[in-house]
Amino acid sequence: MDRKKWWQSSVVYQIYPRSFQDSNGDGIGDLPGITRRLPYIAGLGADVIWLSPIYASPNDDNGYDISDYQKIMPEFGTMEDFDEMLSTAHKLGLKIVMDLVVNHSSDEHRWFREARKSRDNPYRDYYIWRDPKAGMTGGEPGAEPNNWGSCFGGSAWEYDEQTGQYYLHLFSKKQPDLNWDNPRVRDEVFSMMTWWLEKGVDGFRMDVISLISKPEGLPDGVPSGTGYASWESCATGPHLHEYLREMNRRVLSKFDTITVGECPGVPMEEARKYASLDGTELNMVFQFDHMSTEYDPKVGRYGMNSIKLPPLKAAINKWETGLEGYAWNSLYWDNHDQPRAVSRFGNDSPEYRELSAKMLGTCLHLMKGTPYVYQGEELGMTNCPWESLDEINDIESANNVRQNIAKGLVKETDAIEIMRRQSRDNARTPMQWDDSACAGFTTGKPWLRINPNYVEINAENEVNRKDSVYSYYSELIRLRKESELIVHGDFEMLCPESKEVFAYVRTLEEKKLIVACNFTDHPVAFSLPQEFEDGRLLIGNYGDGVQSGSLRPYEAYAVEI
Ligand code: NOJ
Repeated sequence: MDRKKWWQSSVVYQIYPRSFQDSNGDGIGDLPGITRRLPYIAGLGADVIWLSPIYASPNDDNGYDISDYQKIMPEFGTMEDFDEMLSTAHKLGLKIVMDLVVNHSSDEHRWFREARKSRDNPYRDYYIWRDPKAGMTGGEPGAEPNNWGSCFGGSAWEYDEQTGQYYLHLFSKKQPDLNWDNPRVRDEVFSMMTWWLEKGVDGFRMDVISLISKPEGLPDGVPSGTGYASWESCATGPHLHEYLREMNRRVLSKFDTITVGECPGVPMEEARKYASLDGTELNMVFQFDHMSTEYDPKVGRYGMNSIKLPPLKAAINKWETGLEGYAWNSLYWDNHDQPRAVSRFGNDSPEYRELSAKMLGTCLHLMKGTPYVYQGEELGMTNCPWESLDEINDIESANNVRQNIAKGLVKETDAIEIMRRQSRDNARTPMQWDDSACAGFTTGKPWLRINPNYVEINAENEVNRKDSVYSYYSELIRLRKESELIVHGDFEMLCPESKEVFAYVRTLEEKKLIVACNFTDHPVAFSLPQEFEDGRLLIGNYGDGVQSGSLRPYEAYAVEI
């Protein structure tokens, strides 16, 4: 059986619509703005676009709280604007992937507004309701049905006075979890997905899909430093694969789609099922191992640790080799939930920003899997120099850092530095198109601060400059499109213990490719294995040949034989 699929040689470009391009001066990105910029993405060479949510939403979590899955958020435009965007994208050869956020809805969704009216409302069982703990009064501390914490801080349960029960929300209290054990919920979700696919969209990125099946009896989990058990209690629950197979049978198998499941906490054996090459569930997953190697044991993500190369490589190697022959991998450094890659894994000083951004691109794009580029990554956009907590819009970093300060886990004086390193808002500052006021993003007041470095770092400066990060990314994408070896070759990590060099070999039949990357700001010893010595330099970020015996600061290259 030929298991090669078109999405294995695709490169996906992620748009965070709120921050991409405003067209009407309200300071918020929108669909006509995206339509205007589609040629920019086609020019880069990406062929699939993942749109973060554009549905109706009260925006408690910037669109990841959906109040109507079949309506467009008015700030982003109308359904006609969407149709125009979709058809323009298709004309340019770009596919459109929607964000499917169905672990939870908004509390302003009609289903939840009905559900909270009474215990016998027909929509009550669309959500997860429980009585207060036996012998306790609803709303008093400790009366929550179990010890689960919300990802955005505090308990995962909210007491509803009117009906005297708690509802579950693994995210904010305005994001009640849907009850996937109810077949009516699955029917609703599947028919909504079918509606979008019939409209012509090309697939879905499925938000926290690994959390949709909750463990039987909702037992307490192991509490972390915050006193609450994390969402991990819910990862890959008992009916997860059953529900995804049902989704595949009833919806996905009827269309030619690309699907990626966001799967926090996914073990390898489970990922092999989620993204199995037999095509019975999804095409690929986002795992998070390489996104958490620097997390602090006490406060998790919102601490002050820096990246160390050996654990980062171990995490990547685990997935490159562990999925081989079973399932397809996805590759990413960046997205709307992560700090900017060049600031986190590279070096965003003026001296090394471009070099290290290209080094990171080389390292990621020549591995096995479908690469994802997050808007602005192709320009080497950086984290933002936040000056006050009041500038932060992101509910996750704001809540967690404030709660950790209150608990004495984090010093107040470290709060801004933590935001500069880790806040999701680093990724969400508006796209930097040019050096005019507001970076060409809007003519109004931008909804979130613009990174002041837009004057130097912007698309206009990069698109036509041969040695820019953008041109380098477009070359990496072109190479993938032309090479079976890059798409399908096996992966082997070299020197896993090195604290400085990230190197690997790809092999497809008699062809081989070596990729070598220096993750430091100083020269490091590295020699090409003998068999590569007469090889062809495919790409390199210094723009000249391979130096014998060493890699220069943040140097990266690939040599093929
Ligand atoms: C994961 C999304 O990527 C993130 O932005 C969101 O806050 C949560 N899921 C909740 O939907």
